[in-house]
Parts: sequence; structure tokens; C-alpha cells
Amino acid sequence: MNRIVYLNGEWLAEAEAKVSVFDRGFLFADAIYEVTAVIGGKLIDYRGHTARLQRSLSELGIVCPLSEEALLAVHREIVERNGLDEGLIYLQVSRGPADRDFAYPAAPTPTTVLFTQAKAILENPRNQTGISIATVPDWRWERRDIKTVQLLYPSMAKMEATRRGADDAWLVEDGMVTEASSASAHIVKADGTLVTRGLSHAILHGITRAGIIELARSAGIKVEERAFTVEEAKQAAEAFVTSATNFATPVVRIDDVEIGNGRPGPICEKLRGLYTAERLSTAI
Ligand code: PDD
Repeated sequence: MNRIVYLNGEWLAEAEAKVSVFDRGFLFADAIYEVTAVIGGKLIDYRGHTARLQRSLSELGIVCPLSEEALLAVHREIVERNGLDEGLIYLQVSRGPADRDFAYPAAPTPTTVLFTQAKAILENPRNQTGISIATVPDWRWERRDIKTVQLLYPSMAKMEATRRGADDAWLVEDGMVTEASSASAHIVKADGTLVTRGLSHAILHGITRAGIIELARSAGIKVEERAFTVEEAKQAAEAFVTSATNFATPVVRIDDVEIGNGRPGPICEKLRGLYTAERLSTAI
């Protein structure tokens, strides 16, 4: 691949973009990230992602190195420079390089990286087939609302799911589903009610989740924001996951149990349709 990436104000061929071995992102996972979808060359749900970016940074006491205008300009320019029609923009801000020390450096210079990944979001074949889920314990830290790059455990969970023949993992804590390895988890009850875990430090505050809830409510779908057990999920009429990378993907199996009739359900499809239409019309 021959992408142009953004690194601290410079546009570089991907092989030329280098970060210090002393970067705290590398040594301590002292960094946050965002993933924003691009469709037709435009940014989807951009305001939500930048708002969460600022929140994650402020929770870690990292000052955003780019102004609001500069951040938007960089997002637009990376799409342009890479001729990206459909896919993702990955953005990472670390506290920056400093001699290795558990205490933060006094005056860090953050490292900012953006790169693109081309990907079919609208025509994802998994929308038709659905995905299978393996449940695994949620052994992440307790501030999952901060979108840090500490992704080793979610990677391990995904590998464990793959080892068990599933497509992804749902993470479980105290018998309750928290979320998927890199997506928000939802179920639909037999009466059509959408059930999704309420916001707290236990989950990432999904930007797609927020949009789906709002659109569900305006379409007259009842929404319950509360935790649910693995057992309730297995008995649900539908299950699905949401994220910037896939919008809404149906779940047709959890562990050894088929969900509903084992095929993607109508509520997930309806919500994906509503989300896609609404977010395409407001893309910037
Ligand atoms: N992950 N929960 C977790 C743990 C996530 O990592 C993500 C997104 C979500 C969904 O959030 P959003 O709707 O804002 O994308 C929920 C991104 C896509 C990733 O790590 O690639």
C-alpha cells in the first residue's frame, strides 16, 4: 500500500512516517484514538467523533494539538490526498515522547497520526449473513469510556472468539454483557423493544449507538437503556452490534444458540437503513 499519512503536521508516504521508540503511546499505551467512517468522500458523524476525542483527551490531561478547524481540515485533506471514497479514518493522539518514567512528562509534545483504510461499509456481506458471537469475560480496565489504545485484551478476546469458530466476542462482566470487542452490543425483545446497555464507565460511549437510539425513538421503537444478561441475549428476537466501521451488523448466533430464526432481523435492518440515510444526508 502506498498511502499518504499525517504525522505531526507533515504529509508522508506511509513507509516514511516514523514515531520515536520513546513515544508514550508505544511504551505505556498513553494515547487515545478515534475511527470515523467516510462514504462518498465525506465524513460520517464527524461532530460526535471529535466531541468524544476531546473528552478522551481531557480525561487523560492531554491537550489536543490541533484546533477544531485544523482537525477538520486534516480529516478532509487525508481523504483528498488518498482519494478515499469509502472506508475509515484512524486518528491517534499520544502524550508524545519522553524518557521512560511512570510519571507524565511536565511539558509533553503530543504525537498526532492519521491514516486511512479503504473498506466497503454500505455493501458489507455480513449485513446479509449476520455474524456469530462467542462470549468471553470482560477483563479490560474500568475506564472503558475513554477510547485509549490499550487494545490488547479486545484483541485477545477476538482471537479467542475466532479460535471458537465465531466472528467476534461479546464481553461479559458480572453476568451482564458490556459490549463487543470493538462495537456496541444490542438486543431486541420479542415485542420489538431495543435493549442496550446504559452509559457508564463500563462501556465506550458509541457514537453509532447514540445515533441508532435517537433514530429508533423517533421511529416509534421503544428503547430500554439497561444491562442485559447473556441468557436474555440468547432468548432475544434479534441481536446486533454497532460501530463506525460497520454501522449496524446483525448477530445470528451467540455461543451455541441461534438468535431468533437464525437470520438477520428486521429491526436491525430498519435501523441500519435509517442510520445510513440520515448520516449520509448530514455527512460533511
Ligand atoms: N471501535 N465499543 C468499543 C469497545 C469500540 O472499540 C467501539 C468502536 C465501539 C463503537 O463505537 P463507535 O460507534 O463510536 O464506533 C464500541 C472502533 C471502530 C475500532 O476500534 O476500530
